[in-house]
Amino acid sequence: MLKKILITGGAGFIGSHVVRLFVNKYPDYQLVNLDKLTYAGNLANLEDIQDKPNYRFIKGDIVDAAFIDELFTAEKFDSVIHLAAESHVDRSITNPLDFVMTNIVGTVNLLNAARKHWKGDYENKRFYHVSTDEVYGTLGEDGLFTEETAYDPHSPYSASKASSDHFVRAYQDTYGINAVISNCSNNYGSYHFPEKLIPLSINNIKNNLPIPVYGKGENIRDWLWVEDHARAIDVIFHNAESGTTYNVGGHNEWKNIDLIRLLCKIMDEKLDRDAGTSEKLITYVTDRAGHDLRYAIDSSKLQNDLGWKPSLQFEEGLEKTVDWFLSNEEWLNNVTSGNYQTYYEKQYTER
Ligand code: NAD
Ligand code: TYD
Repeated sequence: MLKKILITGGAGFIGSHVVRLFVNKYPDYQLVNLDKLTYAGNLANLEDIQDKPNYRFIKGDIVDAAFIDELFTAEKFDSVIHLAAESHVDRSITNPLDFVMTNIVGTVNLLNAARKHWKGDYENKRFYHVSTDEVYGTLGEDGLFTEETAYDPHSPYSASKASSDHFVRAYQDTYGINAVISNCSNNYGSYHFPEKLIPLSINNIKNNLPIPVYGKGENIRDWLWVEDHARAIDVIFHNAESGTTYNVGGHNEWKNIDLIRLLCKIMDEKLDRDAGTSEKLITYVTDRAGHDLRYAIDSSKLQNDLGWKPSLQFEEGLEKTVDWFLSNEEWLNNVTSGNYQTYYEKQYTER
């Protein structure tokens, strides 16, 4: 049984949902959340579980190899669920090296610690690497990403995640580490940092600010409710065979502009605005460089092997998400003060 789990990046968007799920579902596990608390990491995401006896938080940087080695010595983890990453494509275009450091070097540091500390007992340990569908590059109008699709990353973010996936597989093949990888499509839900499309648009609509749509808004993403992703991680962590990869996705493709229009409609209703009011905020801006046209996941392997499937329809999930943001103003105000303003101005004023 794998019971002493290091979860990296547990104070971020998806990580906080994974930590919450595991802490509540597995009272006899010991869950250690290691997070550097970058701009994207926020302990307020975990307030409801922070005092649980099976949970601990440690502040630290996965790029610091000596620190990671000492942590493995002290804590004797028997498994890792690795989510810590720089995760925003636009930031990767501005600062690629941050992505190389955390996403590649940080992952290799964790693999080295696992290799050293679990030597001789790899079959009883587990290294779970959480990755993205963006490693597969872009689709045209047809087709879906399967686990066999060749890697073809286009952004510094997706290139760094692709590299980290390759390192995980290389450590499995070379040293025999028990590793699993999942590649998931775009997530949405509570605690989503408002630099990403959905929470940024909710925040701007709420404040009557322009909704910046890149290019013509025709790019397509496959959206999955974050709690369904956390459930998939739980199922894969406990049941996947070593060396397996699973694609995780919502079978839920939306053109950006259609998604934004739906969001505007929901927000008009929630904010008691006349129908059509929020749509007037839509503003087309310069496209993202190297912008992938379409992502869409075939998750049938996960559905057939392990019985997982998404639980929420998108319209319902989006409404739930809007409700969460509107009733968590303090959280939103806290994360959009300070550095956020500087980022926003740099990212959008010249577009
Ligand atoms: P996020 O940016 O919200 O959170 C990342 C977390 O990692 C933050 O808490 C941050 O403080 C922490 N972190 C960053 N650098 C660190 C370092 N050097 N050391 C320790 N901690 C560090 O990201 P997210 O959206 O929750 O994504 C989590 C993982 O899931 C990432 O690996 C990402 O590639 C992957 N993923 C995300 C999506 C998505 O739609 N958001 C989809 C598929 C896969
Ligand atoms: P994003 O949420 O950054 O996720 P990813 O790039 O990882 O898919 O972007 C989702 C889509 O929305 C993507 O096609 C880029 C587009 N987008 C905008 O049109 N405007 C924005 O302000 C942002 C942040 C994204």
